[in-house]
Amino acid sequence: MKTLLGIDLGTSATKTVLFNEELQPLASASAEYPLSQPQNGWAEQDPQDWWNAAVETIQAVLQKSGVPTDDIAAIGISGQMHGLVMLDAGGNVLRPSIIWCDQRTAAECVEITNLVGAERLVEITANPALTGFTASKIMWVKKHQPEIYAKCRHILLPKDYLRYKLTGEFATEVSDASGMQVLDVPKRCWSDEVLNKLGIDPSLLAKVYESVDVTGTVSGEAAKATGLSAKTIVVGGAGDNAAAAVGTGVVTDGKAFTTIGTSGVVFAHTDNVTIDPKGRVHTFCCAVPGAWHVMGVTQAAGLSLKWFREQLCMDLNYRQIDEIAAKVPIGARRLLYLPYLMGERTPHLDADCRGVFFGLSGMHTRDDMLRAVMEGVSYSLRDCVEVLRGMGVQTSEMLACGGGGTSPLWRQMLADMFGCDVRTATSQEGPALGVAVLAGVGAGLYKSVPEACANLIQYNAPQPPIEANSKEYETYYSVYKTLYPALKESYSKLAAV
Ligand code: XUL
Repeated sequence: MKTLLGIDLGTSATKTVLFNEELQPLASASAEYPLSQPQNGWAEQDPQDWWNAAVETIQAVLQKSGVPTDDIAAIGISGQMHGLVMLDAGGNVLRPSIIWCDQRTAAECVEITNLVGAERLVEITANPALTGFTASKIMWVKKHQPEIYAKCRHILLPKDYLRYKLTGEFATEVSDASGMQVLDVPKRCWSDEVLNKLGIDPSLLAKVYESVDVTGTVSGEAAKATGLSAKTIVVGGAGDNAAAAVGTGVVTDGKAFTTIGTSGVVFAHTDNVTIDPKGRVHTFCCAVPGAWHVMGVTQAAGLSLKWFREQLCMDLNYRQIDEIAAKVPIGARRLLYLPYLMGERTPHLDADCRGVFFGLSGMHTRDDMLRAVMEGVSYSLRDCVEVLRGMGVQTSEMLACGGGGTSPLWRQMLADMFGCDVRTATSQEGPALGVAVLAGVGAGLYKSVPEACANLIQYNAPQPPIEANSKEYETYYSVYKTLYPALKESYSKLAAV
């Protein structure tokens, strides 16, 4: 029996899972690492931490499963998108990775828009210049750390750094490369025009593959470090959201999922390139060859709850938090939370906005605040759904995944606020499962991504919306929607202090 290995390099931890050919998990392991925020709005991680976590978790699943390593047909890698990894000629990391939720690059976004032209930028990269995306991070290093930029010979995304460490190859794939803002998203290749206008040498970039393509094999050195067999094939894999789409079977038109991980995403598959002219949601290549997706992003979804827990209730685990928040009535006794801890993308595209508790009263307790955080994140995801609906994306049900998707309370909030059924895949492995499917296609075990998903991904019963709840949330949502516009100017004033 062949097996497939999926590695997911998340923002808080790396999770590695070994699956059998029926995509049942045989063993899994995860290892956490820190997020450094050296200034307000900055976010960095050490690529060495990612590699250490990958080695540790690969070793752990091999040991736990006891499966012969020669039976591993292929490896798929998924990861947090957009992060900038810079290597010198010897493959050494030049500086900490500036990751997706970093907001330091507003000035570089203006510069990119001016250099390429707003319309042309959207035509080619399918998105307006965004602080989260890699191009503005590259421009920032070029301007502020020219001595580092001068030494840079390779630019990689987080999961592609793991690929380099595993195989020695500089390679990426279309779904993650879409978030760099230098890919021609409709044509699925690097854009010479954008690179040229931004003054970025194309030789710095990795070779682009489709997600199911074989990009290399495990090197002798990596085999020694991890316990894997040398020559095991490594496929393109996917950015975490495109990978989660495969892991939840969202691989055909009309299907959608919401994930609540560190970030929150509402993702819809599309067989055609569909672009929001206002740029409030992203259009990226998806992991299914020849298809795309649109997605809205809430920067601090799980991150909001993690932040609250770490600052105010470390004694509680997430299951206890769920139970506590479930006892608080809808609306958290008239308390609203705006989840803009790391600025916001959908729908505001604002690097300067920050979190808010609105309506705090002397009667409010920590428990009310916990509920307000979960509701505020859900209102923000509802904002994403609204933009997608406005673009004509219709879905009759929503898959839920990510850490937050395991919470029955959070899922019910989504069902009530979105007004549609919400359900989960029976497997909770999300992105790791998704890239195992891609690995299986790359290794020839499955014919295609949609066929493998149709045959092998199973679902739990749907959670329908509760009409009375929907009505109550609607009232609070209408207040929530007025808060950002009222604060917009104050946010920029505060950021300028
Ligand atoms: C997507 C995004 C995040 C990261 C981290 O555009 O920035 O979802 O991929 O999960």
